[in-house]
Amino acid sequence: MRRRRAGPTFRERCARRFFITKGVEDVLEEAGDATTRLRRSLNTLDILFIGIGAIIGAGIFVLSGVAAAKHAGPAVVLSFVVAGFACGLAALCYAEFASMIPVSGSAYTYSYSTLGELVAWVIGWDLILEYAVGAIAVSIGWSGYLVELLGAAGVHVPAAIAGSPFAGGGAIINLPAMMIVLLLTGLLVLGTKESAGINAALVAVKVIVIVVIVVVGFSFVDPKNYEPYMPFGIGGIFGGAAIVFFAYIGFDAASTTAEEAKNPQRDLPIGIIGSLVVSTALYIMAAVVLTGMAPYNELDQAAPFAYAFSKHHVTWATAVVSAGAIAGITSVLLVSLLAQPRIFFSLSRDGLLPKRISRVHPRFKTPYMSTIITGVAVAICAGLLPIGVAAELTNIGTLFAFLLVSVGIIVLRRKRPDLHRPFRVPLVPWLPALGAILCLALMLSLPLHTWFRFMAWMGIGLIIYANYGYHRSRILKKRQDEAAAEAVVVNAE
Ligand code: ALA
Repeated sequence: MRRRRAGPTFRERCARRFFITKGVEDVLEEAGDATTRLRRSLNTLDILFIGIGAIIGAGIFVLSGVAAAKHAGPAVVLSFVVAGFACGLAALCYAEFASMIPVSGSAYTYSYSTLGELVAWVIGWDLILEYAVGAIAVSIGWSGYLVELLGAAGVHVPAAIAGSPFAGGGAIINLPAMMIVLLLTGLLVLGTKESAGINAALVAVKVIVIVVIVVVGFSFVDPKNYEPYMPFGIGGIFGGAAIVFFAYIGFDAASTTAEEAKNPQRDLPIGIIGSLVVSTALYIMAAVVLTGMAPYNELDQAAPFAYAFSKHHVTWATAVVSAGAIAGITSVLLVSLLAQPRIFFSLSRDGLLPKRISRVHPRFKTPYMSTIITGVAVAICAGLLPIGVAAELTNIGTLFAFLLVSVGIIVLRRKRPDLHRPFRVPLVPWLPALGAILCLALMLSLPLHTWFRFMAWMGIGLIIYANYGYHRSRILKKRQDEAAAEAVVVNAE
């Protein structure tokens, strides 16, 4: 007769290992460790501006035209509403988590406390798509705008040094993209507060430029351009929403600065939700004006707003729009390069990446090691990759992160109803569930090749986890030590 082996089965051991969670108390305790502590220097406005800084950029200044011309027509306004609504639901979930667990790491840290280590690693790895790969896409867009602006001023940048060798245009390297990334990385090493100051100036410029676009452009709106309003039907509105979703990415970046916020429990929800509300309002007004100024089928342009103004011979506005776009895209880049190192910082502090990555600079108190690693890696990829590959991966990666955060809220409300939640999502589980479904619907409207690349990226992440983090996780070590101590006590009795 076969006897059942004593102790847990293989399946039980796997379940215990992969779904090991870090208690919210563990998370807060580690964040208090002085050797890896960041300086609390950011106030409410800094965080609100970091959110807006990360949001308004290439999405509105470049992609709104493509989405109108190819997907939604004048109803691109509704695409902005749909994408904004999906992001709004995710933002509520981020706000609840950020006020409850105000430590660095954003969605990664939240899932560690709710869905277990494996999911946390998956999301941490996935966030690289949102921030680092997003930064690659944005820096390439920045380079394109700069070359265009310099060209208009009579300074010709040779194509060989301003493009991807894989884009088929005969370029060897994209030097402007590399240079802006390295410059902003240097700034971020010197200080978060200083970087926040520069970010605030850039945000002011881009917000003023959008207000100018709306006010000046309004007088050129011709209602005839709104007909037909939905040339591609409801499907077109959703297709457009999956594209302009890129324009909203970034509101969650505010949550990665949790350990540098002076009053995180109040300021993070304000920063996350406030920045999204401001951006959504600006986007909807700008899209109404854009599609009213020119027929939608003419808007597939690298600089659609500049095109619309030049169509009406308002040359000064064209220059103002280009300056706003450069300022906007620069601040998006700055905040993406600020957010990514804070994710690496948290992964490293948890033992899922090498320890030295979470070193904090003794004088500047910034996570300088992870900032430099991010900057150099992003600069190299920005010098070589085409923009399309980077942008599509950013969208799918971010939608996936939003989906998991929405699910995480439902799980944690059930598992730990006792936790203090300074901000609470209303109507749980319905609103987070609706948010998760909308994110999934938008993911499904992305092309199949994007899904394959996404899966490949995740596969690489799992291999790294299996070979490193799985064995070196700090929380695993802590639980083992606790179990050993307990065993000693039991034996002594
Ligand atoms: N939301 C950012 C942008 O539009 C990524 O550039």
